[in-house]
Amino acid sequence: MKIIRARDYRDMSRKAANIVSAQIIMKPNAVLGLATGGTMEGIYDQLVEWYGKGDLDFSEVTTVNLDEYRDLAGDHPQSYMTYMRVHLFDRVNMDPARIHIPDGADPDEAKVCREYEESIRRLGGIDLQLLGIGTDGHIGFNEPGGAFEMETHSVELTDSTIDANARFFACRDDVPRRAYTMGIKSIMQAHKVLLAASGKNKAEILRRAFLGPVTPEVPASILQMHPDMTLVGDEEALSLLE
Ligand code: GLP
Repeated sequence: MKIIRARDYRDMSRKAANIVSAQIIMKPNAVLGLATGGTMEGIYDQLVEWYGKGDLDFSEVTTVNLDEYRDLAGDHPQSYMTYMRVHLFDRVNMDPARIHIPDGADPDEAKVCREYEESIRRLGGIDLQLLGIGTDGHIGFNEPGGAFEMETHSVELTDSTIDANARFFACRDDVPRRAYTMGIKSIMQAHKVLLAASGKNKAEILRRAFLGPVTPEVPASILQMHPDMTLVGDEEALSLLE
């Protein structure tokens, strides 16, 4: 595992965006696994800036997002589809046909999950998977205690995740209780993984995930076993990872 130390959020965003842009430059038709959350916003802003300067071309890039809230249609203001459009897709020359996000509004769980995994397989897997981390160690929406062997599935969100994500909604009661998420197995099959983290509130979980035992109680700890894993964090986030 490689650890890249950044000064602050801005520096972390640039360093992570550099790795994503290198992937696109080396392989213009790359399959990118994308994530949502506050951590990713600076990375997407940086990619958009480089696109604006003519340094990046997304026309052949395919994207596969990690997760989506259950029961939110793609055009709901808080859906992850909307997040991705606002922060990246509508600001670069992405081909809409190459965008993949589970359909949160489709209640047929078995079908949504099976078709999502099939589309990842059809694409030949994910070249670079971008990840954030929840303060409870979740990646995507793989919450503590889930099995490492899972592919795309439907999950019940924990109270701590609902609390953490409530800031994006008008009130806590509006946060969906369930989500579709790629499983740990799907994430571990990505050729490369890039986990980005920023801020003091991620320091303790990063210590547990990368210095502690590999355990489903800390889903991100499985990344210790990934053959090509890079962690980019700012000083605060990495402060307990010496
Ligand atoms: C959500 C997302 C995760 C993300 C996490 C952390 O739960 N499903 O993919 O990593 O939030 O978000 P933030 O970057 O806002 O701390």
